[in-house]
Amino acid sequence: MTEYTVEFVGAGETITVSDKETILSACIEQGIAQEYSCRVGMCLACSAEIIEGDVAQPAARGFTEEERENYALTCMARPQSDLKLERGVYPPSIENDATSGTADTASAADD
Ligand code: FES
Repeated sequence: MTEYTVEFVGAGETITVSDKETILSACIEQGIAQEYSCRVGMCLACSAEIIEGDVAQPAARGFTEEERENYALTCMARPQSDLKLERGVYPPSIENDATSGTADTASAADD
């Protein structure tokens, strides 16, 4: 088991995470307020932008290939190096869903 340092830039928070546990699990254990909901890789609420470093996240199916390089799904991602992450920055697919969600709400109101 290897332990890595995960720094949340702008938040002044740094935690230690082993390569055998998810970043979200370590956040919860260490009292870091990382946003999440489903914890099974579906909702993308726990995503964070990767500023520096690498993660393993083979189950992050909600991301495009490019997003997988630039964002960590913290409920699925395990560190493979020391990391710098930025919380509250979400991938474009979430922004697109939010836009289409507005349209869906409007059409649902028409029913
Ligand atoms: S908490 Fe839902 S994808 Fe991570």
